[in-house]
Amino acid sequence: MLEQTVTIVANERDTDQYFRLVLHAPQIAPLIQPGQFAHVRILPLKDALLRRPFSIFQVGTDTFSILYKTVGKGTAVLSRMRAGEKLSVIAPLGHGFTVPENGGETPLLIAGGYGMAAMFLLAQRSPQKGIVFVGGRRRVDILCEKEFAAIGWEVRVATEDGSHGEKGLVTQPLLKEIGNRKSEIGNRKLFACGPTPMLKAIGKIAEDFNLPCELSMDEHMCCGVGTCLTCVTPVKAGDTWEYQRTCTEGPVFDSRAIVWAANK
Ligand SMILES: Cc1cc2nc3c(=O)[nH]c(=O)nc-3n(C[C@H](O)[C@H](O)[C@H](O)COP(=O)(O)OP(=O)(O)OC[C@H]3O[C@@H](n4cnc5c(N)ncnc54)[C@H](O)[C@@H]3O)c2cc1C
Ligand code: FES
Repeated sequence: MLEQTVTIVANERDTDQYFRLVLHAPQIAPLIQPGQFAHVRILPLKDALLRRPFSIFQVGTDTFSILYKTVGKGTAVLSRMRAGEKLSVIAPLGHGFTVPENGGETPLLIAGGYGMAAMFLLAQRSPQKGIVFVGGRRRVDILCEKEFAAIGWEVRVATEDGSHGEKGLVTQPLLKEIGNRKSEIGNRKLFACGPTPMLKAIGKIAEDFNLPCELSMDEHMCCGVGTCLTCVTPVKAGDTWEYQRTCTEGPVFDSRAIVWAANK
């Protein structure tokens, strides 16, 4: 993990409210594992002290990129920044996904909205290809479909308004796939990133079908490095449960460990 001031190489709109930010970070890029995140201080922001966490989307030789949605004041200011301007980042942070092994379980990746960002590096680094299920409210929330297909993954899309792919929630095509191939269940593993209700639903599917599953939890974060405890998630500990920090023990947890009843 390094704290550095890095230069923006590109910051372009992808679709609608989504932007792709490429940062020149030759020392950070080689350290990054799938599912890890960067904690970004948006220097022109008035209250720049508070960093914003973003999954690391893609990695180049001396760059890494972020795929972000503009939702509030930080991301609005970020979207107006241009190549050559500086950001402060701490990265790579957190405990990421387990990369599937060649000949191992077939990975089924499930992503909602900007959750796609956390999934791409996992798909790219996995020697075992599988299926990626992408969900969103509208067509514009479906990101990177072609990029996943280009690296050999089958892509299944669901939108809530039916404007692209199957109409409904992303869990529908996932359930169809699992239901249609019950005999292969022992050879599958789920990986998911997206809004908490989606993660909860995926955790339930994993439990019902007895599938291994890793979930990247989305919690509000302040320090990002394990000291403030704003990001805690309830996790099983023997017969009871304890809070673990999403920024350090997570963001990726084994779904069987999450105690949803105690989740905020
Ligand atoms: C581990 C991790 C990885 C993330 N990866 C990405 C990513 O790859 N791309 C991306 O676009 N976003 C990602 N996020 C969410 C991102 O951090 C927030 O959207 C961002 O901090 C909002 O900053 P803001 O100043 O624009 O919004 P604010 O003005 O601070 O808040 C605006 C709205 O966004 C909500 N918000 C703030 N933080 C979060 C959060 N963590 N989760 C959900 N809603 C939030 C607030 O409740 C509020 O409604 C990630 C979050 C975590 C914890
Ligand atoms: S964000 Fe501070 S402990 Fe996790």
